[in-house]
Amino acid sequence: MAGVSIEVFRNCMLIASIATILWACGGEQNAASEKEAARMETIADLGALPLTVADPEDNPSTPEKVALGRLLFFDPVLSGNRDVACATCHQPEFNYAEFLETSIGVNGVGRGQARRFVDPNDIPFVKRNSQSVLNTAFNGLRNGEEYDPASAPMFWDVRAKGLEQQALEPIKTLEEMRGNGYHENGILDEVVTRLSHIPEYRKLFSMAFPKDQSPVSQLNLARAIAAYERTLIATNTRFDQYMRGDSNALSTGEKEGMNAFLVTGCAKCHSGPMFSDFKLHTLGVPDTENRKESDSGADAKYAFRTPSLRNLRFTGPYMHSGKFATLDQVLMFYEDIAGGKLLNPHVKEGQVDPLATHMDVNFKDISRIVEFLNTLNDDSFDKSIPESVPSGLPVMGR
Ligand code: HEC
Ligand code: HEC
Repeated sequence: MAGVSIEVFRNCMLIASIATILWACGGEQNAASEKEAARMETIADLGALPLTVADPEDNPSTPEKVALGRLLFFDPVLSGNRDVACATCHQPEFNYAEFLETSIGVNGVGRGQARRFVDPNDIPFVKRNSQSVLNTAFNGLRNGEEYDPASAPMFWDVRAKGLEQQALEPIKTLEEMRGNGYHENGILDEVVTRLSHIPEYRKLFSMAFPKDQSPVSQLNLARAIAAYERTLIATNTRFDQYMRGDSNALSTGEKEGMNAFLVTGCAKCHSGPMFSDFKLHTLGVPDTENRKESDSGADAKYAFRTPSLRNLRFTGPYMHSGKFATLDQVLMFYEDIAGGKLLNPHVKEGQVDPLATHMDVNFKDISRIVEFLNTLNDDSFDKSIPESVPSGLPVMGR
């Protein structure tokens, strides 16, 4: 490990000095970003995941909640037309994400690559690429910072905080689960009414929330789903083993890849145990053609949240728009933007985050970086699917 750090330190010194000269000539740039860009990345900017999950104070996990949340997650009864479950777009075999560029929710049929709209169709594609639910229990986790699961950043544009708040959003969204039959303000009441008419759910809700007068509620629906999601974790990648002290867990080539990842400046954003700063950055990723309008991201600045780099083997295609099918394509995109190319016509020069444009992405490093990224996979997570759900509808929808 000492060898790696020294190597990183050496290379960073070189890059830092070149970078300083370039910026000294560059005139007025964002001073804060420059300072950040000039800082050296070391292995200490990364980290292993903890082995246990923290619950929010008002939603401690119990086996009853988790069991209920699991059934709800796979039950299409939560969708307007009873055709879409959370698991439709967050499929266990795809790391609780899915295979499409952007998702098909309402009025869709099939799984994986075979998923398509049923004719006739008036429902648009979902706006963005499905994020993975695996390890969202750790969203917001940063080295050396206090961690509050209730305020964990959620979505590509961080518009929700915490898994509990996130859980009700897809039910309200037209193309994800709601459909045309219900209004955004009425669908949650409808779903709660449906659940309270199913005897098995009534029983499971009162077991999960024994102190509540009326346990079948929107709040408890969200709490149960969130409690289940917090059981979906994968914390034992070879990288984690290495960081926990097993220096043989990575090969020499992979250690070099990690070095290249740090020296290149990837960890300026992809840092900490989740390989994310959970902040918004503008990179100018191309839009998907699945939607007519351009996706302008957070605050209409084309900014999106740094995604985790864990389990990428199972989560392609990549980026908020699902535009890149392979990791090599992602890396070539970084090479392009570092070389000054603009790939989204709505994003102007100077808008792209200097932490990305100041990176020194060398073609020769790409395969080594990808080799390192492959040490961040852990396939040993719970992929079990319930045999049936209390509504009697098909598990995971159509
Ligand atoms: C039709 C597809 C679809 C369905 C159904 C769906 N999701 Fe999602 N999910 C997505 C997409 C797409 C995103 C990213 C959306 C965005 O950022 O705007 C997402 C994001 C998330 C995230 C945020 C992950 C992160 O790292 O921020 C969580 C958690 C999640 N979904 C859970 C659920 C739950 C729980 C349900 C059921 C109540 C559900 N999803 C239903 C497609 C879907
Ligand atoms: C300026 C911050 C920043 C830097 C530096 C950066 N990234 Fe990213 N990365 C992001 C953001 C933000 C996204 C999502 C962009 C989007 O979808 O519009 C992303 C997306 C990705 C993805 C896609 C993940 C997924 O699940 O879709 C990969 C892989 C990736 N980055 C790897 C890297 C590598 C390797 C480097 C170094 C060469 C790097 N990144 C440098 C911020 C950064």
